[in-house]
Amino acid sequence: MKKPLRKAVLPVAGLGTRFLPATKAMAKEMLPVVDKPLIQYAIEEARAAGIDQFCMVTGRGKTALVEHFDVAFELEATLRQRNRVEALEQLKGSQVEPGSMVTVRQQVPLGLGHAIWCARAFIGDDPFAILLPDDLVLSETPCLKQLADAYRETGGNVVAVVEVPREHTNRYGILKTGHDDGRLVEVQGLVEKPAPADAPSNLSIIGRYVLMPEVIGHLAKMERGAGNEVQLTDGMARLIGHQPFHGLRYKGTRFDCGDKAGFLEAQIAFALARPDLADAVRGFLHKYV
Ligand code: UTP
Repeated sequence: MKKPLRKAVLPVAGLGTRFLPATKAMAKEMLPVVDKPLIQYAIEEARAAGIDQFCMVTGRGKTALVEHFDVAFELEATLRQRNRVEALEQLKGSQVEPGSMVTVRQQVPLGLGHAIWCARAFIGDDPFAILLPDDLVLSETPCLKQLADAYRETGGNVVAVVEVPREHTNRYGILKTGHDDGRLVEVQGLVEKPAPADAPSNLSIIGRYVLMPEVIGHLAKMERGAGNEVQLTDGMARLIGHQPFHGLRYKGTRFDCGDKAGFLEAQIAFALARPDLADAVRGFLHKYV
């Protein structure tokens, strides 16, 4: 029987070099899109997929991420005193059940695969989700919910995939595809950041995964891959042929918020999706373009 999906790992220990100087003293995952930090979008998306246990893999200078999900006692008391009901309501999404969030430290940023391996005690023998908070997905059904449903259908590993321009394959993990029904794709191989000429397809993995715990055993070997980092893609590739492994063409639009242009696009798309802001934003966009 398939084990239920209840755990999510959120790696947030990267250096965020593409977003300097903003990320010099502040975690990239605390950057807000409209009025909410990236990390909170990720936690809310995980919750919507039925997940109730969270592990953030953090590093130096990331304490604000932990604080964000704590009770802000003085702030809340002051707001209550002033009867600021709406402001108090705004804080609700950042409150987690006591004991439902843990953090582990990735002392050295050796790559995404290494970050996931750092969460091995939390993962144990259970299937788990991974959300990279800097990948933000605007969709009707939350992206991870779509993956969790596919996991219940297929069992085994499921990753969210999207077609990218062939000249961009060297930025992503790319699939070698087998049977493809237009929604679910059987994964026959995975390559991290292949040159366009060597890429087995143009289907790329985005930052949403449901993985089986056996991946940890492969990551533990600490083999270095692309960029001399311990790559999650390489660990996942070792599971192929031993467990079901599928790519899911999710419904939605992904924004790479680790990149400046992607982040700006996300601001506009998310603001236009908000009834309280859409008109104002549409108005000033006309002014600039
Ligand atoms: P990125 O490839 O976006 O790297 O990592 P980065 O360091 O965050 O940013 P740039 O490229 O220097 O601007 C993808 C995800 O993996 C995490 C990051 O926090 C991000 O969520 N990560 C990456 C780690 O947790 N540890 C690592 O060693 C590397």
